[in-house]
Amino acid sequence: LLEKASDLPLKGKKVIISAGGTIERIDPVRYITNDSSGKMGHRLAEQARDLGADVILVTASKLEHPFGVTVRPVSSAREMQAAIMSDFDDATIIIMAAAVSDYRPKNQADKKMKKASQDIQILLEENPDILATMGQQKTHQFLIGFAAETNDVEKYATDKLKRKNADMIVANDVSKEHAGFNKDTNEVIIFQPNKEAIHIETDTKENIAKHILLEALYSMKL
Ligand code: CTP
Ligand code: CA
Repeated sequence: LLEKASDLPLKGKKVIISAGGTIERIDPVRYITNDSSGKMGHRLAEQARDLGADVILVTASKLEHPFGVTVRPVSSAREMQAAIMSDFDDATIIIMAAAVSDYRPKNQADKKMKKASQDIQILLEENPDILATMGQQKTHQFLIGFAAETNDVEKYATDKLKRKNADMIVANDVSKEHAGFNKDTNEVIIFQPNKEAIHIETDTKENIAKHILLEALYSMKL
């Protein structure tokens, strides 16, 4: 058994996976978030673990922590970025399965905001693009991003591949019944530079996760 374990393709390799929808505080009792459940990211963490990796799961999800992986719970996009970057240098694969909020409230009230009998405005400022920043800084890391789209999947996904300098974009059409946010199944298309797109038919997120990792290993020649 031990001999077998040392044969695992990701043995001794660090894999960072982000999951869930980030939470951007307005005040102590209110926040902005999105519909991401974290399921895809948590399934990826389990599959990477089973391929022998030292997995760091940076998660904004309330899902149960998978066994046998290092979990770093985070809330905001900026916390997520700091947690990922602390392990960036010696990571082999980084997978951004998280739905990172593009914006955060510019001002965070430290006390609960009181009702005023008039309309109010919450000014939002842009969050850092964690994947794009890593795309600029990467040396040996294999970077995988996700793209949740409702239309023009190929156009937006290939644009993200280029714009973020990623090695792979896993796209899903979240308008489909069996794919995307909070589902147990998914259907994805894998885009990589200078390669034909790979369509993975509807399957459990566990099996989709396995597929994504095996495709990455193949591309990395691991
Ligand atoms: N991402 C990120 N940091 C952000 C926004 C997104 O790291 N601030 C990552 C996501 O985790 C995902 C990929 O980038 O892996 C694509 O996210 P997406 O929201 O689809 O891309 P955006 O560039 O934000 O484009 P848009 O929301 O306009 O479609
Ligand atoms: Ca976005």
